[in-house]
Amino acid sequence: MSEKIKALKAEISAATAKTQDELEAYRLKFISRKSVLGDLFADIKNIAPEDRKAFGQEVNEVKQLAEEKFKELIAGLESADTGNKSSAPVDLTLPPNINLGTVHPLTYVHNRIVEIFQKIGFNVADGPEIEDDFHNFTALNFPENHPAREMQDTFFIESNPDIALRTHTSSVQIRIMENQKPPFRALAPGRVFRNEAISARAHCFFHQVEGFFVDKNVGLVDLKQTLYYFAKELFGQDTKVRFRPSYFPFTEPSAEMDISCNICKGKGCNICKYSGWVEILGSGMIDPNVLENCGIDSEEYTGFAFGMGIERIAMLKFQVNDLRLYSENDVRFLNQFKHLS
Ligand code: PHE
Repeated sequence: MSEKIKALKAEISAATAKTQDELEAYRLKFISRKSVLGDLFADIKNIAPEDRKAFGQEVNEVKQLAEEKFKELIAGLESADTGNKSSAPVDLTLPPNINLGTVHPLTYVHNRIVEIFQKIGFNVADGPEIEDDFHNFTALNFPENHPAREMQDTFFIESNPDIALRTHTSSVQIRIMENQKPPFRALAPGRVFRNEAISARAHCFFHQVEGFFVDKNVGLVDLKQTLYYFAKELFGQDTKVRFRPSYFPFTEPSAEMDISCNICKGKGCNICKYSGWVEILGSGMIDPNVLENCGIDSEEYTGFAFGMGIERIAMLKFQVNDLRLYSENDVRFLNQFKHLS
C-alpha cells in the first residue's frame, strides 16, 4: 500500500499545468471528490485497525501535498497570464474611453439666454423657490382674493398659507427692488412650480427666465428693441417679432411676444398651429404700483419686465413636444443633444 502512496506522491510532485485544461485535469485527478485520493480514503476501512492511524496520516499527507501543488499550479498559470498582458503594447497617449454626459437641453437654452442678455449689460440674480405671499403675489399687484391669482395654480403649505412654492420668477423682481437702488438691469432664471396635472403640455415644475430693467426714462421702445435683439440672437437674424396686448397684474401695458415660426418659416405647421407665429414670452411696462410697493419713486423711475419659459423655448429650438421628457433623465433622449456639448 505504501508503494502506491509513494508513486502518487511522485506523480503529484512532477505534475505541471501549462494550460487551463491541464489544470482542470489535475484537479479532477487529485482534488475533486472523485479523485484517486477519494479511493484511498475509502480504503481505510479495509486496513487492520492497528495500522489505520498510520495509514490515515499518510493519506492526509498526500492530500495536503496535492492541494499545495494545486495552488502552485494556479499561481503559475496566473503569472503566465499577466506576463502575457504586460508584454502587449499599451499606448498611454490614447484618450481614455470615458462616456461623458451631455449638456441638458434646458441648461443649454438657459446658458444661451443668459449669454445674450449679459452682452447688453444684464446681471444674473437669484431668489428663493419657497416664497411668501407678499413676494409672489401681493407686491406684484395681485390684490388679495382677486381672481388674477387663479391664473397660476399654486402649491400652498396647508399649515401656513402665507408660504408657497413660487409660481413665477417675477418674485425675484421684488426681492431685488426692495433691497437695492435703481437702476436695475437683471436676469433671474430659475425653477417655478404650478399645481397642474402632469401631461405632455404641462408639468408641476418648469423653468423661467425673468428679465427687468428699471431706470429713468425707460419706455416701451426699450422693451421692444431689447426683446427684438434677443429673438434675433436666439432664433436667427431673419426672425420677426410681434406684440399682442395681454394682461398681467404687475405690468401696464402688457404684451405677449410672438416670433415668426422658426420651424416652417412662417408658412404654417402644427407647431405654430398654422398661424406662422409662436408665443415665446410675456412682457410689459412695470406697473407703478409695483415700483411703489418696493419703495421706488414711480414719478422718477420707469421700467419694463419680461418672463419666458425655458422649456417652451427649448421645445421650439429642438422640436420636442412632450414636456415630461425634460425631467425623466432618459439617456436615449439626452444622448440626442451630444452636439451641444
Ligand atoms: N410672470 C409671468 C408669468 O409667469 C410672466 C411675465 C413676467 C409677464 C414679466 C410680464 C412681465 O406668466
